[in-house]
Amino acid sequence: MCGIIGYVGEREVAPIIFSGLKKLEYRGYDSAGIATVHNGKICIKKDSGKIDDIHSRMNLKNLPGCLGLGHTRWATHGGVTRENAHPHTDCSGEIVLVHNGIIENFQELRKLLKNHDFESETDTEIIAHLIEEEMKRGNDFVEASKSALKKIVGHYATLIMSKNDKRIIAARRGSPLVIGVGDKEYFPASDIPAFIDYTKNVIYLQDHDFVVLDKKGPKFFSLLNGKEIKREVSTVDWDAEQARKGEFDHFMLKEIIEQTETIQKAINQSSDVIKEVAEDIKNAKGIFFVACGTASYACMTGSYVFSKIAKKHINVVSGSEFPHFEHFLTDRTLVIEVSQSGETADTLDAVKVARRKGSKVLSIVNVMGSSLTRNSDKCLLTQSGPEICVLSTKAYTAQIALLILLAYATAGKLEEGKKQLKELYNSVYDLTALSTREHLKKLGEKLKNKDHMFTIGRGLMYPTALEAALKLKEVSYIHTEGFAGGDLKHGTIALIEGGTPCIVFVSKDTENDIISNAMEIKSRGGYIIGVGSENNEIFDYFIKVPESDITNPITHIIPMQILAYQVALLRGCDPDKPRNLAKSVTVR
Ligand code: G6P
Repeated sequence: MCGIIGYVGEREVAPIIFSGLKKLEYRGYDSAGIATVHNGKICIKKDSGKIDDIHSRMNLKNLPGCLGLGHTRWATHGGVTRENAHPHTDCSGEIVLVHNGIIENFQELRKLLKNHDFESETDTEIIAHLIEEEMKRGNDFVEASKSALKKIVGHYATLIMSKNDKRIIAARRGSPLVIGVGDKEYFPASDIPAFIDYTKNVIYLQDHDFVVLDKKGPKFFSLLNGKEIKREVSTVDWDAEQARKGEFDHFMLKEIIEQTETIQKAINQSSDVIKEVAEDIKNAKGIFFVACGTASYACMTGSYVFSKIAKKHINVVSGSEFPHFEHFLTDRTLVIEVSQSGETADTLDAVKVARRKGSKVLSIVNVMGSSLTRNSDKCLLTQSGPEICVLSTKAYTAQIALLILLAYATAGKLEEGKKQLKELYNSVYDLTALSTREHLKKLGEKLKNKDHMFTIGRGLMYPTALEAALKLKEVSYIHTEGFAGGDLKHGTIALIEGGTPCIVFVSKDTENDIISNAMEIKSRGGYIIGVGSENNEIFDYFIKVPESDITNPITHIIPMQILAYQVALLRGCDPDKPRNLAKSVTVR
């Protein structure tokens, strides 16, 4: 939620911050702003709305200086208004800052700062006034910032400047922050795409890090004990091109099509590491899969796969609910966390719960260097490259591919698992081809004006139905609900009327039962869309996918991703940035 970027160096800063914010828009896009420091003055431009719209109103690139910071917002405290947009300043106009996170004690702190004039309803503005207060006590900019941050309960990634200083302060606790390291220039930011056009060298900050940055380099301190510390520079293995749309109109389509490659990359893991994790799974007493959103449907799929292939029971719990399962955790429990970003707050909180009970934590993550990769005992990387569209597509299928591989490894049949997944290459290629996309666009035309839709599946196809419903509703805003095939008749079938679309996922092992369920809907006037390997007379529209048994969750979801994309376009929705959503949910 919210993206921040700063720059110290010798170039003109505003265009750099602007392009960085564009790359971070997936983290929030309801307001944006940039501040620079030049000749002892702070210059700010900010407003509510998407960055491009704000830019066309006030030319965000036209701000002077070589020192600056910017913010793209996903509102938490305070409505979507110009006043609440970052950057925020103190009363004297000396301090300016941006923040990603939540200050939990902000009401308490605001009472203590009753003599200050607040311009916004945000929790963030508190930090500027706290620093001002500390400076009144005689502390310099750096010391005042340290003291202010120590008073905060909650989490933050923040960048702070003073009009009388040529440095940026960067600090984090609980929210992501990395520093791009260039030649005499530095880019502190929420995520790597913000600066990948300039450098592939990065320093990952850790919780409680407090960094003083100027163009000569960063100095790192720990806010826990005030001591100077060291942080290593690493090099990322993906390039600027991967973070660009290239020939595609939207990242969503680009990332859907990339699945031909990404699924193969995900399974290209060291067999030794996979076998090691499989041993951990075999030795554990009680296993939990923990994730949020789309990743949680990958986990649910994984639990069916483990049941079928490895005969192992796995509990699937949403990150936000995991604390309620604490009583079942012991030092023999294995917690496997799955996340694209590795920064989802609820998923990260689950690590803390597991740690309290001495449980082992493994993770499946896409973003290398993210908090989850650093806080787990072992980590498998999905290696999908940057996923920029807010909706998760290629990371989802990569997560499922890895879970399938782990299930086979747990059953002692790793090679068989690899073979099944390798065979997917051609199918995924066909499923993302232009002809398939056109076929789904035609279906999109039929669905675009509907108010409600349903999806059903049984067994492995049940989580697929849930994920398909999520994809469709989050990007097209058509209310879509997913059900286990047998469950729709227990209440929700009352909502089926003439022409209500219902997408039915058919696999060989569930065919008879799911077709019966489809009949029940058809008899009440439902419009049946079949997704499977064979057409059936009850289908009003048919989407052909290969029958691939254990990998059906991958082959059956891809047309749904494309359908969601097409319906979004037909309804005039932005597929990359659906309303109210953010890619990285770093708040609870
Ligand atoms: C948000 C995103 C979803 C994503 C979920 C979990 O809700 O909009 O697309 O599935 O977070 O994110 P993670 O990065 O942990 O997989």
